[in-house]
Amino acid sequence: MSDPSGIDVDLARRDTPGCESLIHMNNAGASLPPRQVVDAQVEYLQAEAKSGGYELAADRADQLADTYAAISELVGAQPDDIALMSNATEAWQLAFNSIRLEDGDRILTSEAEYASNYIEFLRVRRHVNISVEPIPSDEDGMTSAAALAAMVDDRVRLIAITHVPTNGGLINPAAEIGHVANRAGIPYLLDVCQSVGQIDLDVDKLGCDFLSATGRKFLRGPRGTGFLYARRSILASTEPPVLDLSAATWTSLDEIEIRPDARRYETWEFNYAAVRGLGVAARYALSIGPKRIECRVRWLADQLRERLEEVEGVSVYDLGVNRAGIVTFSLAGIDASAVQKEMAGRSINCSVTTPASTLVDATRRGLPDLVRLSPHYYNTGEELEVTVDAIASVSTT
Ligand SMILES: Cc1ncc(COP(=O)(O)O)c(C=O)c1O
Repeated sequence: MSDPSGIDVDLARRDTPGCESLIHMNNAGASLPPRQVVDAQVEYLQAEAKSGGYELAADRADQLADTYAAISELVGAQPDDIALMSNATEAWQLAFNSIRLEDGDRILTSEAEYASNYIEFLRVRRHVNISVEPIPSDEDGMTSAAALAAMVDDRVRLIAITHVPTNGGLINPAAEIGHVANRAGIPYLLDVCQSVGQIDLDVDKLGCDFLSATGRKFLRGPRGTGFLYARRSILASTEPPVLDLSAATWTSLDEIEIRPDARRYETWEFNYAAVRGLGVAARYALSIGPKRIECRVRWLADQLRERLEEVEGVSVYDLGVNRAGIVTFSLAGIDASAVQKEMAGRSINCSVTTPASTLVDATRRGLPDLVRLSPHYYNTGEELEVTVDAIASVSTT
């Protein structure tokens, strides 16, 4: 079957200098950015050095505001609903810690929840007597919305789900989960770190109150960037765990007034060159089209799984029905890190995912360290072939 997405892949590759020298299958780690993203950052940094940081930020206020506009467009929100962050973890932790938890409260989460999220649940549990309960997965490995509905009661204070986990192609049914959360009036925090930039997202369809994301992965933005979406209606019942002079105004000696929008989660200082780069990355994704990106990434990843399954000794571990652009596998008798090293020697970038990054899921399924391949729309069918051939030759050497 030929590519159903209609993306001009040659153009996307011409925009991606990194494609010339390697096969980059580590977009779930950090994508190769388009040259437009790099150029915008370099240009901004150089202008900053000539103008002064505060002065340039004032001059470029419209350009910087466009980062909020582009991100909000990408997730179907309003610019005021977006707070810029340094990474997805910061976004997630600020949202999580803005919910006041009391003894007896329950948190329902996914089995494939990311380690940093779960670690924070367990840290808070040292101080407050909460329970953290993974929602059972259905027969396809997806977080079961039906099981969730059966678990809900008036002690559930938060539903926190990872949309696409770090350790495989699973896409959790985030909108169905949102439906259950909204019906029960429970705050819903969705980690889209691995789905933003590869899957078309709409916060209203997803029904999430908070959404946490990173810039450097499938969105192809700069490292050290991320964002938080916060629904206007959740702001009244939550409070950011930290506030500075940009998030709140010191109105009188004993009083403060918190900003009425999502930027109450920000602090004042930013790497503005990176903010600019993130905006350009979001515009770049919008110009290609999130639906088309999703279509091509899925098409490539499905082919990759099919081809890998033909290689002797390979076991593919991805769960779910419609799978995302993360493909994880093991090779009989060979450590995942040895495979990664061998591939790096052939200029093919892949990564290794360890059980500790998704411990509930890894324990349940008895997962070993896995090799992770994560193609993006700028990868080609030919690159998939070269990658699979390289893995086949590692398996026989
Ligand atoms: C599902 C998921 N959530 C959160 C994160 C953390 O993202 P960041 O490193 O930008 O904080 C990752 C990173 O790999 C991830 O895979």
